[in-house]
Amino acid sequence: MNEMLGKIKESALAKIAEAVDADALNEIKVAVLGKKGELTQVLKSMKDVAPEDRPKVGQMVNDARAVIEDTLSKKLAEIARAARSARLVRETVDVTKPGTRKLLGHRHPNQIALEDLERVFIGMGYEVVSGPEVEYDKYNFELLNIPANHPAKDEQDTFYIQRGATTEEDILLRTQTSSVQARIMLDAVNPEKERTLPIRVISPGRVFRADEVDATHSPSFHQVEGLVIDKNITMADLKGTLAQFAKEFFGPNTKTKFRPHHFPFTEPSAEVDITCFKCGGKGCGVCKGSGWIEILGCGMVHPNVLSMCGIDPEEYSGFAFGIGLERITLLKYEIDDMRLLYENDERFLSQF
Ligand code: DAH
Repeated sequence: MNEMLGKIKESALAKIAEAVDADALNEIKVAVLGKKGELTQVLKSMKDVAPEDRPKVGQMVNDARAVIEDTLSKKLAEIARAARSARLVRETVDVTKPGTRKLLGHRHPNQIALEDLERVFIGMGYEVVSGPEVEYDKYNFELLNIPANHPAKDEQDTFYIQRGATTEEDILLRTQTSSVQARIMLDAVNPEKERTLPIRVISPGRVFRADEVDATHSPSFHQVEGLVIDKNITMADLKGTLAQFAKEFFGPNTKTKFRPHHFPFTEPSAEVDITCFKCGGKGCGVCKGSGWIEILGCGMVHPNVLSMCGIDPEEYSGFAFGIGLERITLLKYEIDDMRLLYENDERFLSQF
């Protein structure tokens, strides 16, 4: 009996010494001390022991059990300690290490140019307004003196969305931000709206034309519309305003030139050129040798447009202009291909 108990104890202690985790220890515990464990079997065989020897044998079994339990719990504590220090090593944080830097985006060149432009006009007392990109023919064409079948409609290869009951109700992607002019004027004479005359607004936004993509064309680009309506507004106000804008936006030495042109919604109309910011007017690659660069269209708001929008042309007059945002962005940053603005190439964009 003594010998058998000794073997059980030796073998249990050897296994405990080899165990590497709590699960292994638990298995040993069950195998030796459990209900069907080796030591328990010994207790069950007590009936074969002579009655006078039983207390002694019982004592031996209990001693063996106590030693095994004690060894088990010590080993368990040892394993837990080792696991804990392994975790501490694994989770060590070196607070002196440099952090992982988050890549922060920044404004697109178009947006930088737009904000520069807005700053100039806000400085002159303009309000920045917006209008819908999906628009009725009425605002995009009809109220701007471009009636059904007007050839100017062809020039602006329009994306039509839906045919209306009348041409005016056709729905399209606006071909020009000039559509906002009509909306603002109508609002200004509508007593239910907050807006009143006089008007002094700019309206930047996206426009759409069925153009092929090349270095200077895109089916979607941006314009900034300007509209001023008040009493006694003259061409001199228009010229002064745009000349001042050109100086503030492109540099104080910039000169402007007004060339007669035609737009259905202005009379007279003009296109505005600025002296080449690169060569100062001498002629270079940027201005194709002419010394001048075209930047916008403008004119005095046509009396027909005023009256269609509910404003008396005898009492009020005004001017309007439309600037191609990409155009001035390309010029300002000397970018030679409009497609670069849309490709979202990080190597290009991060230069601004
Ligand atoms: N809407 C014109 C275009 O897309 C630009 C323009 C010209 C706007 C003259 C105006 C203007 O407001 O007065 O080509």
